[in-house]
Amino acid sequence: MAHLVLDLVSVHYDGQAQPAVTQASISVKSGDFLVLVGRSGCGKTTLLNTAAGLISPTGGTVTVNGKKITAPGADRAVVFQNDALFPWLSVRDNVSFALKLRGIPAQERDAVASRLLELVKLDGIGGKAIWELSGGMRQRVGLARALAAEPDFLLMDEPLGALDALTRERMQTLLLDIWATNNIGVLMVTHGIDEALLLATRIVVLAPGPGRVVRQIDAGFGRRYVSGEPVRSIKADSAFNRARTELEDSIFEGEAA
Ligand SMILES: Nc1ncnc2c1ncn2[C@@H]1O[C@H](COP(=O)(O)OP(=O)(O)OP(=O)(O)O)[C@@H](O)[C@H]1O
Ligand SMILES: [Mg+2]
Repeated sequence: MAHLVLDLVSVHYDGQAQPAVTQASISVKSGDFLVLVGRSGCGKTTLLNTAAGLISPTGGTVTVNGKKITAPGADRAVVFQNDALFPWLSVRDNVSFALKLRGIPAQERDAVASRLLELVKLDGIGGKAIWELSGGMRQRVGLARALAAEPDFLLMDEPLGALDALTRERMQTLLLDIWATNNIGVLMVTHGIDEALLLATRIVVLAPGPGRVVRQIDAGFGRRYVSGEPVRSIKADSAFNRARTELEDSIFEGEAA
């Protein structure tokens, strides 16, 4: 069981009048799916990048299993909105890039890449070039590449934001499948209210000015999908609709009409 903790984390960028994030505390354990939501500029990306070790907090601490982290690590894989793939490498070599850095031999790397491409439902395209793929396929390659390092945590900043509605729905269930089979801890940013509700075990609501955590809401709709209930039936449930209203109220609370 791995445990990522942000304890009273503040981030004050140089030259800014107020902190981007102030005294935010969140905890992600293996098997948790935490989703960060909130209005633009409330510090979601800042918080995610702090968890990744890309930003050092100006206050508070970030720890993994009780140990303070100060830099990115293979235990925390990051998936950006822009897939950030290497266009000069094949799909297979993109996926196994982290393994190459670790000096793992080609045959073994290829076997891992094939398994991960199957997991993201892209079997058989390992030899293709990145420019031959659609946006949704590229995002899945990015996900497979993140999983190659066998991270304890998957950190994702609006990973599905650039996709069309249908592809996005498919990717949501794919994320749930991967989360459920790998027992990883997920921390993800989204602007999608339904997406947050469907995926999260816990939703963290942030508000701007300065960015801070205003609410944490437990949700369990993703577990229902994992146990076999169709997404359509989950979303048609009145409990889902009530949760949506509650979440929207917390996001827009205090905002001038
Ligand atoms: N590198 C930076 N230097 C200075 N200020 C920054 C930097 N990055 C973000 N900010 C400021 O910090 C605040 C929070 O930004 P952040 O990108 O974390 O918000 P966000 O919630 O991810 O927004 P969005 O939903 O638009 O992506 C904003 O006021 C932003 O202008
Ligand atoms: Mg952002």
